[in-house]
Amino acid sequence: MDAYDTDPGVAAAVASFNLPEHLGFGQINAPVMFDAEWRNGEWQRGRLLPYGPIEVWPGSRALQYAELVFEGLKAYRVGRSRPNLFRAEANCRRMIRSATRLSMPAVPEALFFQGIGAVVRACSDIMPTQSGRSLYLRPFIFGSESGYMLRNSRTFRFMVIANPVEPYASGAMEVAIERADVRAAAGGLGEAKASANYAASLRASTAAVVSGRTIALWLDGAEHRYLQELSGMNIFTVLDGELHTPELDGAILPGITRDSLLTLARSLGYKAHERRIPLDEVLEGIDSGRCSELFACGTAAVVSPVALLAEGDGREYRLQKTDAVAKHLRESLLAIQERRAPDPLGWTQELTFA
Ligand code: COI
Repeated sequence: MDAYDTDPGVAAAVASFNLPEHLGFGQINAPVMFDAEWRNGEWQRGRLLPYGPIEVWPGSRALQYAELVFEGLKAYRVGRSRPNLFRAEANCRRMIRSATRLSMPAVPEALFFQGIGAVVRACSDIMPTQSGRSLYLRPFIFGSESGYMLRNSRTFRFMVIANPVEPYASGAMEVAIERADVRAAAGGLGEAKASANYAASLRASTAAVVSGRTIALWLDGAEHRYLQELSGMNIFTVLDGELHTPELDGAILPGITRDSLLTLARSLGYKAHERRIPLDEVLEGIDSGRCSELFACGTAAVVSPVALLAEGDGREYRLQKTDAVAKHLRESLLAIQERRAPDPLGWTQELTFA
């Protein structure tokens, strides 16, 4: 991929950025963004710009028909002079699969890495350096052509924005079981990181928060019996001391953290299973003590314990332990991500800026 252009305003935008003490998740915007356009059947030269509003046609397919796929990954710089990424090529492959599912043009690996590399490079001196904090990268592709005909756009934008962040969820989560709405069904968009999936989850997520819970738990779309995922996070349970997570069924997002935890857990001596998990088995297991723990995982969330599951009528199923296996896995994963522990599988990649 050819080099990209850098807007003359970038240096001043970076120089005037101050990293606040409280970061939250997605509340603070990094001062730069990357933007490349797809037109006449090919990706054009990208640009690094100061972060700011963009011009989009009100009739663009992204706004009218949710023609948008995205990724989430993190750059870390904990006790090191150079930032590093974690399994970024897996994010790139997933973004290609998501774009293909929506028949949007894939972003080639070289452009994907050029975009995230440009943003991390510009932010390397202003990104968080404390353990647990990172620079969250949000690459996305959207259809920019205006028009209502139901076909793909013929112009697209690939952009990368970033946010210095703390973990998405802190503390043990109270999870509302969603028994009515469906987030995704096999054959739909569930396994793509498409913004439309997140739109489908918003009603239940908002209702969960309004009722004092943290997040909603999704069940399978066909029978409403099996665990699917939490909005934006995969789920694990500890049953009889062994780890279980829902098998990828075409509706569940194939999380990179989920995949990493399966490998890591096995290397730490845990038995880990991927299978269909009936919600009733978990609820009965919590009552009987068989199910000792539940936790969510994802790039944003890392590994977040669940304190209880709640039905809409107020019944609660409280876990015995909230952060035993979860804590072990979270600390082991974070140590690799932040390059504080050996990385035998070569998951991390230090960025070198030539
Ligand atoms: C991520 O973990 O990267 C996500 O996209 C989840 C989102 C709810 C922040």
